[in-house]
Amino acid sequence: MKLAIGCDHGGFELKKEVLEHLAARGFEVTDVGCDSPASCDYPEYSKKVTDLILSGEADLGILICGTGIGMSMAANKERGIRAALCHDVFSAKATREHNNANVLCMGARVVGPGLALMIIDTFLDTPFSNEERHIRRISLYSD
Ligand code: RB5
Repeated sequence: MKLAIGCDHGGFELKKEVLEHLAARGFEVTDVGCDSPASCDYPEYSKKVTDLILSGEADLGILICGTGIGMSMAANKERGIRAALCHDVFSAKATREHNNANVLCMGARVVGPGLALMIIDTFLDTPFSNEERHIRRISLYSD
């Protein structure tokens, strides 16, 4: 599975830990930035990640900012993107099973690294249920 990850300055430190974790798990990851803790604009990085997903160059994306909110709002503007803001493991599992979410958003000022990595593992390890009712509901609002 190919992954894309992006952050703004609010998510920069957490992204470093996430990248180490994903490398240890053997994932192929494209890191679109940002590359320093200097202040920057999160929509720039959400767009880079969603472009990689929509082009098929990545299967799933991870976006981290201070709250995760701006990243999720920006990512969900792109047709075909189903970005889920998750700060608990239950939501990360449910959004893969029910919503076939293709982007996970998190706030580094909301969760610590331990919980963040559990949320990420759950998101990446949970398949879409492929149940008819979920396919129908997704088709009512998303490609
Ligand atoms: C940056 O200060 C902060 O606004 C950003 O990381 C994010 O939380 C926006 O939703």
